[in-house]
Amino acid sequence: MDADGRPGLTTPDGTPGGTSCAADPADLVRANRDLWDGWTELHVRSDFYDVESFKAGRNTLDAVESEGVGDVQGKSLLHLQCHFGLDTLSWARRGARVTGVDFSENAVAHARRLARELALEARFICADVTDTATVLEVLGGEQFDVVFTSHGVITWLPDLRPWARTVAGALKPGGTFFLSDSHPFTWMFDEAAEPELRFRYEYFAREAMRWEEKGSYAAPDADFEGVSYSWQHAFEDIVGSLAGAGLQIVSLKEYPYLFWRWFPWMVKDGDGAYRLPEGVPEIPLMFSLTATKPATTRPAH
Ligand SMILES: C[S@@+](CC[C@H](N)C(=O)[O-])C[C@H]1O[C@@H](n2cnc3c(N)ncnc32)[C@H](O)[C@@H]1O
Repeated sequence: MDADGRPGLTTPDGTPGGTSCAADPADLVRANRDLWDGWTELHVRSDFYDVESFKAGRNTLDAVESEGVGDVQGKSLLHLQCHFGLDTLSWARRGARVTGVDFSENAVAHARRLARELALEARFICADVTDTATVLEVLGGEQFDVVFTSHGVITWLPDLRPWARTVAGALKPGGTFFLSDSHPFTWMFDEAAEPELRFRYEYFAREAMRWEEKGSYAAPDADFEGVSYSWQHAFEDIVGSLAGAGLQIVSLKEYPYLFWRWFPWMVKDGDGAYRLPEGVPEIPLMFSLTATKPATTRPAH
């Protein structure tokens, strides 16, 4: 993402912030899917995603993603939670054989349409990334050199363990998984305080958070109202779920910036990264993680 906004968590104009919610996660995931079907319709027309410049050749991958994944020429790449495909198709433009997965039918339909219009080779699949058996079945047993997912992804998932098993199951032995996302620490702060970091939310929260949505992070002024649900994941759960699925962590990095506006009062630098203003202590805002699947792996559990 290279524009203003806060993926997956939006309280744009004085909405009260998140509240804890004890409902069945399966119901909340269904509600999120409906929300994403609606949001996609806003996003394909938004300045934030700027589809026209993408069609003209703009690449949507940022420096952390590009360096973290490296050269993909001739490689097979699976993009989890691909939204309507801009990053997936950016990898295709760099020579990867790409497959995108998202649970929003509308997002997948738009991604397919865009790929066709741009004559880019790509496959898009509609599935829930935490439904490991279904994803692996729909992939028909194919395994990939690279599994990629980034920016506004893990907080949509109630439980990272099945997601990690999907990653491990879809990787070739010796293949590489790359993840970058907002740092779990950033989720603790009050989004309304300005410009100051004020603790508000639990780091170890287990229940979902419920958010009133007006518009979306990418289209804050759109005439749209909905509700989203997100889940906080401690670092031990992120790393632990991947290790538990049999992957080996080879790199973990933390950044004092991210590529989208998390707090409204952040400052954009010349490289398109958003930082905290001078005088506010630096905190980790984003992380990236690379893991590999050992050539001979013990079975995921
Ligand atoms: C913030 S977007 C992805 C970020 C992407 N980098 C972008 O900017 O377009 C999050 C995506 O996750 C998808 N998603 C959320 N929960 C999912 C799930 N359980 N399975 C598959 N996709 C999911 C949503 O439909 C949405 O397209």
